[in-house]
Amino acid sequence: MTTISIDRVRHLYRPARGRPVLALEDVSLEVRDKEFLALLGPSGCGKSTLLYLMGGFLPVEIGSISIDGKPIAGPGPERGVVFQHFALFPWKTVRQNVLYGLERKGLPRDEREATAKKFIDLVGLSGFEDNYPSQLSGGMKQRAAIARTLAVDPAVLLMDEPFGALDAQTRALMQAELLNIWRASPKTVVFVTHDVQEAVYLAGRVVVMSARPGKVKAIVDTDFDKTAPDVLRSPKFGDMADHIWGLVKEEAIKAQMGRGV
Ligand SMILES: Nc1ncnc2c1ncn2[C@@H]1O[C@H](COP(=O)(O)OP(=O)(O)OP(=O)(O)O)[C@@H](O)[C@H]1O
Ligand SMILES: [Mg+2]
Repeated sequence: MTTISIDRVRHLYRPARGRPVLALEDVSLEVRDKEFLALLGPSGCGKSTLLYLMGGFLPVEIGSISIDGKPIAGPGPERGVVFQHFALFPWKTVRQNVLYGLERKGLPRDEREATAKKFIDLVGLSGFEDNYPSQLSGGMKQRAAIARTLAVDPAVLLMDEPFGALDAQTRALMQAELLNIWRASPKTVVFVTHDVQEAVYLAGRVVVMSARPGKVKAIVDTDFDKTAPDVLRSPKFGDMADHIWGLVKEEAIKAQMGRGV
């Protein structure tokens, strides 16, 4: 069981220079065991902040976040994170980056090599194993970071716009791969995206956040059979995407008006 309970979380950034920023206000949310949850909301509403808090990269100061009843006290190996701005080790090659997490897991060498190869293939980077991040395009770096996190097979996957830098075709392939992985080995996923279609396609529930300070505005159940090849063009899919798009749009307009004040 891996359930994440977020209870009345507030997060205030206090930069050394400039005004404090209230990023999250009273966020409560239960991420269920092995569900695929998408987080949507206008830019700046605190999606990354919420993910950093769940990942243990920022301290929870007000409210609480716990995993299976245990408060988060920092990053942990059971939580795999794909950051919005790729965090590969620049001094390691693609293969070494993917192997890194597996070494920490204590797997035997052959198994590590085989697993690394499998995930490098899966994200379409075979042939680039020995490249350093500086020798990759943005989308390739993003895919390398995804391979590194998926290879470890964590119980929780926290992904922050992981497909943001990919072209439409690669993105569609990666979405399908991610769904395959999740169906074959279900894990608790929190997936941040700007893309309403992507959220409806991947997730069983979509959380729409309000403009900053971020709150949970709505939770939409998007759990229906999406295995048909033309599901993206089905009326049910379209209606659901339209409904969610309407909710996000309201908040995007608020966020824009807020900027003018
Ligand atoms: N280190 C920081 N110091 C001060 N303010 C910050 C810091 N990080 C984020 N913020 C502010 O907190 C708010 C929420 O930021 P966050 O990155 O969580 O938003 P987001 O929803 O992920 O946005 P995007 O969709 O653009 O990635 C924003 O107003 C941002 O400017
Ligand atoms: Mg973000």
